Amino acid sequence: MSVSNSDVVAQPTSFAFSPDNLARAQTIIGHYPADRKASAVLGLLDLAQRQSGGWLPRAAMDYVAELLEMAPIRVYEVATFYSMFNLKPVGKFHIQVCRTTPCWLRGSDDLTQSCKKKLGIGLHEVTADGMFSLIEVECLGACVNAPMVQINDDYYEDLDPARLEAVLDALARGEKPSIGSQTGRQGSAPANGQKTHAAEGGGQAGE
Ligand code: FES
Repeated sequence: MSVSNSDVVAQPTSFAFSPDNLARAQTIIGHYPADRKASAVLGLLDLAQRQSGGWLPRAAMDYVAELLEMAPIRVYEVATFYSMFNLKPVGKFHIQVCRTTPCWLRGSDDLTQSCKKKLGIGLHEVTADGMFSLIEVECLGACVNAPMVQINDDYYEDLDPARLEAVLDALARGEKPSIGSQTGRQGSAPANGQKTHAAEGGGQAGE
């Protein structure tokens, strides 16, 4: 059973930064010239989303607009452009499956299907227990370890359906699975364990 992120979302009527986040916001705003406060919009929307439990209520966008002296529509434009901003509630663990070409060629469709089947939800839906939500996104910049997914702030790489299911199971148990490559390779080092360009026999690797 799943709870769909329907188009009708219960919106809080007001939003204001906590004292800590207001101080963080002022620091971010201070990075830009006084007449370019709008440049801080991404940072402030990110803060607002984190304070709101992983999504951006309309009141939070309006609050950011007022703080940055921007027209609200300009803030909505930013929030609706970037997949990092969620305009509806998401799960405790928000799964973003990268579907761009390198990940797609390496099996991202299988990852999405595996998540749907395991969690019983479709894209843009949240499990009934509020634990997981699922979307597909474009390149997350870790193509060298494709296919990969982002879950909240963490990257899980070198995946196949079984490895991804193991990560989801660990999260559901309250554990903290190791991030990065799920095959154990260091960073994006060669998957075959090779550590130098020189191949055995003195030639170049690949010769
Ligand atoms: S294509 Fe998936 S991280 Fe770049």
